[in-house]
Amino acid sequence: MRIVALCGSLRAGSFNQALLDVAIERGPAHGLEIVQADIREFPPFNQDLEGTPPPAVLEAKRIIQTGETLLLVSPETNYGVPGVLKNAIDWLSRPAHDPTLYRRPMAVAGVSTGYMGTMRAQLAWRQMWHYFNAPVFSGVELTVPLARTVFDGDGRIADTATVERLDAYLSALSEWVMQCQRAAEPT
Ligand SMILES: Cc1cc2nc3c(=O)[nH]c(=O)nc-3n(C[C@H](O)[C@H](O)[C@H](O)COP(=O)(O)O)c2cc1C
Repeated sequence: MRIVALCGSLRAGSFNQALLDVAIERGPAHGLEIVQADIREFPPFNQDLEGTPPPAVLEAKRIIQTGETLLLVSPETNYGVPGVLKNAIDWLSRPAHDPTLYRRPMAVAGVSTGYMGTMRAQLAWRQMWHYFNAPVFSGVELTVPLARTVFDGDGRIADTATVERLDAYLSALSEWVMQCQRAAEPT
């Protein structure tokens, strides 16, 4: 099963990118091929350009449509969602009901340096997904707080409990993606 991930941080040394990299590595053990679609070259959204999206947007749309589920690995900024990822979602959502996001199952995870581990941002992403009329994975939550105590200088997870939580998340996610596939099959 193929999952396409977007990372909501463009920062070199991003903890969210580090979490996604480890998820990509550990995915196959749970029956998941996780690939990343790049949002770095997305310009600020402008509805005047919606009919002729830039190549970076078209390429990300193509990759997302090769997967069953979208995975957002998102920081929290100012108690909300990071603008760079919201901007990407706005591009990817157009035109209205575009199959890139419309009805596409979504899962969310995130890392923060604070105590809440992106919980508020994750709730905001979940709320946003109502618009896309799509299921959101809820079986296991992956909020990773206090990032500086969790990752080492090479972006590896230095904390065993977090690796176990990531594995539990991927395992439950894999089961859920299968259920979504079964539900989508014609009866
Ligand atoms: C503009 C800005 C706003 C932030 N707001 C929050 C916040 O609301 N909650 C939180 O837990 N951390 C917040 N942080 C700290 C982030 O958790 C931290 O910068 C984290 O490393 C961002 O993820 P990254 O390492 O993947 O870039 C904020 C950071 C920035 C730069």
